[in-house]
Amino acid sequence: MDPQVQKVVDELQERVAREAEQFSQGIPPDVNQLALAAGPETAGFLNLLIRAMEAKRIVEVGTSIGYTALWLGEAARATGGYVIGMEAIAAKHKQALDHIARAGLSDVVEVRLGDAKAIVQELAGPIDLVFLDAWKDDYFAYFDALLPKLRVGGCVVADNITFPKAFQETMRRYQEHVRAYSNVRSHLLSIGNGEEMSVRIG
Ligand SMILES: C[S@@+](CC[C@H](N)C(=O)[O-])C[C@H]1O[C@@H](n2cnc3c(N)ncnc32)[C@H](O)[C@@H]1O
Repeated sequence: MDPQVQKVVDELQERVAREAEQFSQGIPPDVNQLALAAGPETAGFLNLLIRAMEAKRIVEVGTSIGYTALWLGEAARATGGYVIGMEAIAAKHKQALDHIARAGLSDVVEVRLGDAKAIVQELAGPIDLVFLDAWKDDYFAYFDALLPKLRVGGCVVADNITFPKAFQETMRRYQEHVRAYSNVRSHLLSIGNGEEMSVRIG
């Protein structure tokens, strides 16, 4: 990992650990302030996947303060690629831009401020890789909007399939939904909070 990126990643990991500690102490969180980061296992996997696929056009739906975007950007710089993130909460969007700038990744990671449901409609294809990590009820709409823009061999990785438990029923329906497409091959990976990886095969 690039040391300038690693420094910001470490800083954000400390913040995520503090948030988890507050959770465990029963301190009520303000969800609009939380990083809600996918974590190093999932972000590290996405970093490798970008490199293995030589992915160039990468989309993150739900960027929060930019933790995973740093990992995506570090790999995108190696492939000559570009990341488009999106975040609805202005304070988080501002923090994401600051973290990305301090990591030296502003030239390869863009974060759009606004409703991802509208932003995904505006995106042009072909897209190599999508990371879905916004509110879970919306995953279906994001998948349906982005699949036609995905190149054949491109993939959508969706977070939180197995954790937290509160999302389980929605995520089971999401898996059913994506697996029903005849041009999609999809598999659950035991990485991080459970990742459904769906590849466009036709
Ligand atoms: C789980 S967090 C993302 C964490 C980030 N992917 C990471 O791993 O560092 C989900 C984020 O999606 C944002 N979000 C949810 N629905 C959205 C929407 N419709 N448009 C834009 N952002 C949205 C939330 O504000 C929240 O910050």
